[in-house]
Amino acid sequence: MPSLEWERSHYSARPELKARLLANENPWGPSPKARLAIMETAKEGNRYQHEAAMNLRSMIAAFEGVSEDHILLAPGSSDVLEKMAIMHFMNGGNLVAADPAYMSLIKTAVAMKADWKKVRLTDSWAHDLDGMKKAVDRNTKMVYICNPNNPTGTLTPAEDIKKFCREVATNDTTVFVDEAYLEFLPDPKAQTMVPLIKEGKNVVVARTFSKVHGMAGLRIGYGVMLPEMLEKVDAIWRGNMSLCKTSLMGAMASLEDTEFQQMSIKGTAAARKQTVTGLKKLGFSPVPSHTSFMVFPIAMAGKPFLDAMFSKGVGVRAFDIFGKDYCRVSMGKPEEMDIFLTALEEVLV
Ligand SMILES: Cc1ncc(COP(=O)(O)O)c(C=O)c1O
Repeated sequence: MPSLEWERSHYSARPELKARLLANENPWGPSPKARLAIMETAKEGNRYQHEAAMNLRSMIAAFEGVSEDHILLAPGSSDVLEKMAIMHFMNGGNLVAADPAYMSLIKTAVAMKADWKKVRLTDSWAHDLDGMKKAVDRNTKMVYICNPNNPTGTLTPAEDIKKFCREVATNDTTVFVDEAYLEFLPDPKAQTMVPLIKEGKNVVVARTFSKVHGMAGLRIGYGVMLPEMLEKVDAIWRGNMSLCKTSLMGAMASLEDTEFQQMSIKGTAAARKQTVTGLKKLGFSPVPSHTSFMVFPIAMAGKPFLDAMFSKGVGVRAFDIFGKDYCRVSMGKPEEMDIFLTALEEVLV
């Protein structure tokens, strides 16, 4: 995993990038309807956003099929991940999570002095749910499952996670399911863990407008959880104060713009196809992805590889997975994927 200092130097102001494929951003968004709503709302920037937040919250509650007291709105799902980590590990305990996993919640939990019990993904890149169940003990405050997973882009079957939640999610142990990339799956409604929350299980689901909706820089996300969990959040943080009215109005317009969402899903699938074909032609073996990014092993250390790619105007990420170097590339527009494939050939083939 690259150091923070190194990451900063690569993320910060690289306007010369011809293909920015390093943060799983949507290359098409936000939706034109969301942009319009944002522009129209800018003139109301002198007013607080509580009404807009209430409206988005009820819209999301209806969309998820739960009552409003299950929905925590947030400036990006990162906020939900961090708040849950802080709340759960204030008094110690351990976190069971996969290796490799998306690190945001884990990083905050470890900073709160949680013990991270790592459970390696299986050889087919799914969560090892039996292994995770065995790792749970009486000090386990939370299990974190990212599905589909980042950085691998791989899927753990929904039915297996549901079974796991029914056995593991109790008053003492929350199962946190990060569904940032859910919409890229063919049938998101069949894959989400929200029905478990309706069953009364102590499950928290995090969702975001940063991916399919293309609103990463506008910061809107939400958590679905039991009302009693939401009460605990409300006891610490003043709900809605970190939200921004323009983004709330943009999110509402985007939720209604299913045409844009479909375009974004189809465009991502086309980019995946183009990238897999191109990578295979060059002799690489991409891990089958269900998301807007994919990983593949590279025969070069991460840092020199990234430096070489950046010098060609291509931003990607490198990960050490099970002691091997991998490149993670986000899906961009067709021309960006071509630029990436050409640079890759020059650097590695
Ligand atoms: C798995 C996962 N969860 C959460 C996030 C955070 O997204 P945001 O805070 O923009 O909603 C990301 C961002 O890339 C992610 O990959």
